[in-house]
Amino acid sequence: MSLKVRIGNLELKNPFMPASGTFGSGLEYEDFGNLSELGAIVTKGVSLNPKIGNKPPRICELPGGMLNSIGLENIGIEKFVKVLDELGKYETNVIVNFFGNSLEEYIEVAKILDGHNVVSCLEMNISCPNIKEGGMCFGTDPNMVYTLVKEVKKNIQKDLWVKLTPNAGNLISIARSAEDAGASAIVIANTYTGMKVDVATKRPVLGNIFGGYSGPVIKPITLYHVFCCAKEINVPIIACGGIVTLEDALEYFIVGASAVQVGTANFTNPHILWELIKKMESYLRAENTSLSDLVGSLKI
Ligand SMILES: Cc1cc2nc3c(=O)[nH]c(=O)nc-3n(C[C@H](O)[C@H](O)[C@H](O)COP(=O)(O)O)c2cc1C
Repeated sequence: MSLKVRIGNLELKNPFMPASGTFGSGLEYEDFGNLSELGAIVTKGVSLNPKIGNKPPRICELPGGMLNSIGLENIGIEKFVKVLDELGKYETNVIVNFFGNSLEEYIEVAKILDGHNVVSCLEMNISCPNIKEGGMCFGTDPNMVYTLVKEVKKNIQKDLWVKLTPNAGNLISIARSAEDAGASAIVIANTYTGMKVDVATKRPVLGNIFGGYSGPVIKPITLYHVFCCAKEINVPIIACGGIVTLEDALEYFIVGASAVQVGTANFTNPHILWELIKKMESYLRAENTSLSDLVGSLKI
């Protein structure tokens, strides 16, 4: 039973991969399964310069999910390329998630990643403030998204996946802008901004006051966004939000996603990706169907 899927110029042996920031560089999960069996390894977001991230506490567990305000802490691209060299031993795609605080920063990181032989394709996180334009988030404005994607794409040869922020409200116009500007795939979506207050102290629980909400509780909302965008765009959609069970992943395929990313669930079950791949194989065999028949098979 083949689970192969094509996303732009990449062939994935199956449609399951980790979500950025929840799987380290991938190497941290070596003890839990063979990374070569994954459709891809997606690494934690990297930027031009190292980033120390936000003040603690940075994590808050809630019913149905978690809030995080890691603040995109990372070691910077110069040190990160050494980690990438190590990932080269795995026979799967290496997708590098990256971000910047200006167009120039995005372009500079993208060029370095494009020149690295281990990198299969780039995943651009656009949930970041554009410091030069008053701190407005890149990913909430269709025009800003178009310019960002177009300019980055001009400077690279490899495929560019664009990962949307659900905080944009209407994701269809954002997804269209990314597609028109040259994205090979759209990843839907990042975390939802939220907060938690400690009623005893009347203080926010997170050091950064607010953070990104992820986990099972967001799945119905992200599923809705995937459904809306799938009808409007032609490039593949990679769904990401709250996947824990095979049924969660199947729902995303049925509304039109070509592949899925698993995030928060890696923290509670580090074997989950390998388990989902096996369950998917069994499901397709039992139903005597194929992944391509499943994708977009929603009946209304
Ligand atoms: C601790 C943590 C760190 C994250 N770091 C990144 C990151 O560096 N880049 C990015 O694009 N998304 C990041 N995300 C968002 C996830 O990749 C994913 O989009 C989100 O958590 C929704 O999926 P989930 O509900 O399966 O976790 C992070 C999420 C968490 C929980």
